[in-house]
Amino acid sequence: MKIIVTESFAKTCELAATMIADVIRNKPDARLGLATGSTAQGVYPYLVKANQAGELDFSRVNTINLDEYVGLAPDHPQSYRCFMDENLFDQINIDKKNTIVAKGTGDIEENVKAFREALAEKPIDVQLLGIGVDGHVGFNEPGDVLYDGAHVEELEESTIDANARFFTTRDEVPTKAISMGMGDILRAKKLLLLATGESKAEAMKGLLLNEELDVQNPATLVKTHPDVTVIIDRALAEDIGYRA
Ligand code: F6R
Repeated sequence: MKIIVTESFAKTCELAATMIADVIRNKPDARLGLATGSTAQGVYPYLVKANQAGELDFSRVNTINLDEYVGLAPDHPQSYRCFMDENLFDQINIDKKNTIVAKGTGDIEENVKAFREALAEKPIDVQLLGIGVDGHVGFNEPGDVLYDGAHVEELEESTIDANARFFTTRDEVPTKAISMGMGDILRAKKLLLLATGESKAEAMKGLLLNEELDVQNPATLVKTHPDVTVIIDRALAEDIGYRA
C-alpha cells in the first residue's frame, strides 16, 4: 500500500485527479470507477478544469459508479446519478451513454443484474474510493459477511446519519443502496482511497496502523490489493498518529 500525506484536502484531491488523468492519458478508453460524496466531490473540479483547458479528453472514457440509493429515481436531486451529472459528466466531453450508475428505482433485482453485467463487461482501470465513518467502501457495510459482487446493502445507522446532511429530514435518507461488492472493488486494476476529517479517524486507524483484515472495517480489505494508493491530509495523519 502506498500512503501519501498531503498538506491539505485540496492537495489530496488535486493529486488524485492527476493520478486519474494519468490513467486516461495512458489509456484514452479507460474505464473509471467513480464515487460520490464530499470526498469525491473535491476531486471532480480538477478533472473538469483539465478537460475544459483542453488538457484531458473524456470522449472515449467510460465510467461506472460504486453505488446508488434504492428508492431514488435518476432525476432525484440526491440520487448519485444526479450527483455525477452535476459534478462531472455535464461539465466534460464525456458521452453520457458511456457512464453507468446503477438504477435505484423499478425492479431492483433486475437493476442489480444489469449492474453485475455492466461490471463484467470490462475491468476498471482506476477506482476512486472514499471511506465511511464505519469503514465502508462503496456501500459495503461492516458485518459478519462481506459480498463479492454487486448487491443490495442495508445501510448502517451511522451511514444514514452521515448522509442525512444532504436531505431535509433524516426520514428521507434511503436505508438501502445497490453497491459494487468488495470483490468488484478489489478487481479494479488500481485503487485510490482518499480520506479527510476526524470522523474518519477510527476507520483509517484500522487501515493504516495495523495489518488486520477486519470485516467490521471493510476498507481494511484494500490492504490485499497490489496497487492501492491511500491519500490523506496532514491533519488526519496527526489525528490518527500516522507517521510515514
Ligand atoms: C459513495 C460511496 C461511499 C462514500 C463514503 C464517504 O459513492 O461509495 O463509500 O465514499 O460514504 O463519503 P463522504 O466522502 O461524503 O464522507
